[in-house]
Amino acid sequence: MKNPSDSFGISFTALYTGAVWHQNGLSDDSLATTQGRLLYHLMSPFEAASRLVAGGNLRTFLLQRHLIIDHLIHKAIADQGITQIIEIACGMTPRGLRLRQRYPLLHVVEADLPDMAARKALRLLATDRLSQYHQVTPIDILATRGEYTLETVVERVLDPAKPFIVVTEGLTSYFSLDVISGFWRRLAGVMAKHPGSVYLSESYLKPRQPLIRGGLDACAQVLGAMTRSQVSFHFSDSDETKRHIEAQGFPEVHVHNPEDFYDQLPIPHSRGTPFVRIVEARS
Ligand SMILES: C[S@@+](CC[C@H](N)C(=O)[O-])C[C@H]1O[C@@H](n2cnc3c(N)ncnc32)[C@H](O)[C@@H]1O
Repeated sequence: MKNPSDSFGISFTALYTGAVWHQNGLSDDSLATTQGRLLYHLMSPFEAASRLVAGGNLRTFLLQRHLIIDHLIHKAIADQGITQIIEIACGMTPRGLRLRQRYPLLHVVEADLPDMAARKALRLLATDRLSQYHQVTPIDILATRGEYTLETVVERVLDPAKPFIVVTEGLTSYFSLDVISGFWRRLAGVMAKHPGSVYLSESYLKPRQPLIRGGLDACAQVLGAMTRSQVSFHFSDSDETKRHIEAQGFPEVHVHNPEDFYDQLPIPHSRGTPFVRIVEARS
């Protein structure tokens, strides 16, 4: 990233993931964008080729991570009775809408950089979806002072007496391990004040096979240049992921492999071992 405190270049990727959710029947027309549709069609030949060559593609991993995170949210709500959730880097995700439909008393806060948050809020406002239970707010996970910091936003929008679920989907891999670890440490500090809180996110493993590794490194470089960010694969396996996240201050960490959900969830299967892992960390 040219300037580590400016990650605005990443925002357009939310239009692509938003289109993937929409094309797979997971979204709402109010969140579909023309640019997203265009990106979806432009990416289709590339996605088809990588599915053929590597046995999985971006869309495979996106759907795996999205539906497993959903599943773990439902579990946290059912098992622990959690009543508030904040999704950071929400982009055009339809998750907030789906959760509000399923849990009418759940307090849902969607958060993103100011421009993206405004864009999301306008779309929800236009279809009368915003309410005291469903809010959108600006945040910048890199901000260390001011009204957009993680600490200020959590304090402002969530009930301090209760645990919460926090989701970051499609965010952490755009930052070097050093930068995103700083965010994780701050998040662990915030969650420690709300015992029983749950953090859900995904991480992409460094591929072992040299050919696939080379191909993915090249893709990461292109995406990094397009988003002016440092697209990175942070860990080699689940154990390393777990150890690192624990070391940032999370007392309990589980790292889930999509393979373990093949017979429970309607997720696409990868030909070999999937690259994506879902991180579930508790305070
Ligand atoms: C790949 S999109 C993911 C969007 C959504 N979570 C999804 O899965 O469809 C990445 C998102 O990260 C947001 N983002 C980038 N830098 C951020 C930051 N410093 N703080 C908060 N959000 C950020 C972007 O605006 C964008 O919406």
